[in-house]
Amino acid sequence: MKFLSLQTLYISLSSFIPGITSQAVNGISSNPQIFGNVLNSWTKLQAGWDLTRGESTNALTLPMPKNGPIIVQPNKTALVIIDMQNFFLHESLNGDPKGRAIVPTTVNLIHAFRAAGMPVLWTNWGLTEFDLINMPPAFIRGFSRDGTSATSFGSDMGKIVVGGMLMRGSWNAQPWGDLFTEQVQGVAMGTDFYFNKNRLSGMWGTGTPMQTWLQDNSMTTLFFGGVNIDQCVWGTLLDSYYKGYDVILLDDISATTSPLSATQMVDFNAGLNGWRANSTDILGALKGRA
Ligand SMILES: *[C@@H]1O[C@H](CO)[C@@H](O)[C@H](O)[C@H]1NC(C)=O
Ligand SMILES: *[C@@H]1O[C@H](CO)[C@@H](O)[C@H](O)[C@H]1NC(C)=O
Repeated sequence: MKFLSLQTLYISLSSFIPGITSQAVNGISSNPQIFGNVLNSWTKLQAGWDLTRGESTNALTLPMPKNGPIIVQPNKTALVIIDMQNFFLHESLNGDPKGRAIVPTTVNLIHAFRAAGMPVLWTNWGLTEFDLINMPPAFIRGFSRDGTSATSFGSDMGKIVVGGMLMRGSWNAQPWGDLFTEQVQGVAMGTDFYFNKNRLSGMWGTGTPMQTWLQDNSMTTLFFGGVNIDQCVWGTLLDSYYKGYDVILLDDISATTSPLSATQMVDFNAGLNGWRANSTDILGALKGRA
């Protein structure tokens, strides 16, 4: 039996994909400005990077404070909002005021993504009874509120009648304040999509609901914000990066209760893995498209 060589595969595929015409060497383009191959690549430009993978129609140029601008294909690019839930933010649950403070900025950016025709993805803790059975000890300890397993995932949240802790459909697992309205309306309009997760990362393991959606919709490029920047945001960003997505961390729509050093570590590494920006850096370009 004879198999198609990677070289032949590359050449046959490249004849269908405009913009990428160089020869493959061991699966990687021989053009030093192309990073990857016809299956998945970035193109380095005079200034910045083209992340559209050859689909330049309707491409959008977004300024970045460093190593930019980036050119993205709007129908492959999404905004991911992580864990902006009552459990982490609500006043009555001693939620993080820094997390509440980024909500207006987050809402602004959500509106700009929608107006530019780019999806908004919400990934939040939303556990099932089955998830509780499979929860590793380290996570149960990590989310205990009094040092015992009785106050971890699924536990009754006490005087505030909110259902089991971080359980799917419970009040404490809903997005906080205006974000809940935004999420419900966005999903109803078809601009937003909601994904439950059962670990810090919304992209862990062999697959999650969000990962399946990203694959089904041929997404390549993800912007991230939410809480905590060094935990669930970082976990989701890092797993997305490991799985080959372009990752951009947005500083001003992310927050944490951890010490500053935790954010510094994330900022340092996110800049290496992809890009870091503030929503204000890209808002103008998004609005220009709307
Ligand atoms: C995305 O946009 C590109 C460029 O306009 C187009 O070629 C492609 O078919 C679109 N993909 C989807 C899934 O709409
Ligand atoms: C975002 O804005 C803040 C406040 O102006 C600034 O300290 C930070 O460096 C900015 N982040 C990026 C990635 O430019």
